[in-house]
Amino acid sequence: MTTRPGATGGQASGEPIPLVIAPMRSRDLRSVLAIERAVFPRPWSHRLFADELAQRATRLYRTAWVGRKVVAFGGVMFIEDDAHVNTIAVDPAWHGCQIGTAVLADLVMGSLARGAHRLSLEVRVGNEPALALYRRFGMAPVGVRPNYYPETGDDALVMVVEGIDEPAYAERLGAIGDEVAERVVVDARS
Ligand SMILES: CC(C)(COP(=O)(O)OP(=O)(O)OC[C@H]1O[C@@H](n2cnc3c(N)ncnc32)[C@H](O)[C@@H]1OP(=O)(O)O)[C@@H](O)C(=O)NCCC(=O)NCCS
Repeated sequence: MTTRPGATGGQASGEPIPLVIAPMRSRDLRSVLAIERAVFPRPWSHRLFADELAQRATRLYRTAWVGRKVVAFGGVMFIEDDAHVNTIAVDPAWHGCQIGTAVLADLVMGSLARGAHRLSLEVRVGNEPALALYRRFGMAPVGVRPNYYPETGDDALVMVVEGIDEPAYAERLGAIGDEVAERVVVDARS
């Protein structure tokens, strides 16, 4: 078992974290926004999240809980067979505990249930934790969007993985699930 220094998340060391991942609801937004503001230089507003949640046919937003505390969230937008990751974030107190991996795996499974073939996203160049997370899911850079983040002028890398509905990818997801299970016990609710 690997433990990243400082990544205790308030959990007694060695015990798997019991993580519940459930549909994001409006009443989660206060906690979601607290994480959003802690991790993003240009946080989304309550209004923007509410607008996203209202688009049920083309969106999948999930909230991750440890007990009664929101510790992470993520959201995907569906365009034909593409599942585009709009956002993913973990409370900084819980970074490095495999929670981001568990949330992304949950989003991928939800995307498969909606018939997605491809996963895509934009990520800030130099966001190493996020890049490492996405590489773990087989995502690779396919392009750059210059000055994508206006607040800093940073470029975005466009990352994609095709064939998430194919057997080889199911194997990858299974292996990721096995690794996560050493640190996190996931209860995914619909
Ligand atoms: C990106 C983010 C969601 C990752 O969540 P996390 O729960 O800390 O990540 P995990 O513990 O699941 O780690 C997944 C992998 O990411 C990498 N990673 C995580 N933290 C890292 C760090 N500080 N430095 C380098 N790599 C890191 C590792 O490869 C790790 O796998 P490993 O533990 O097997 O080595 C989290 O850092 C975050 O919320 N960042 C701020 C918001 C953000 O940038 N979101 C992405 C927008 S595109």
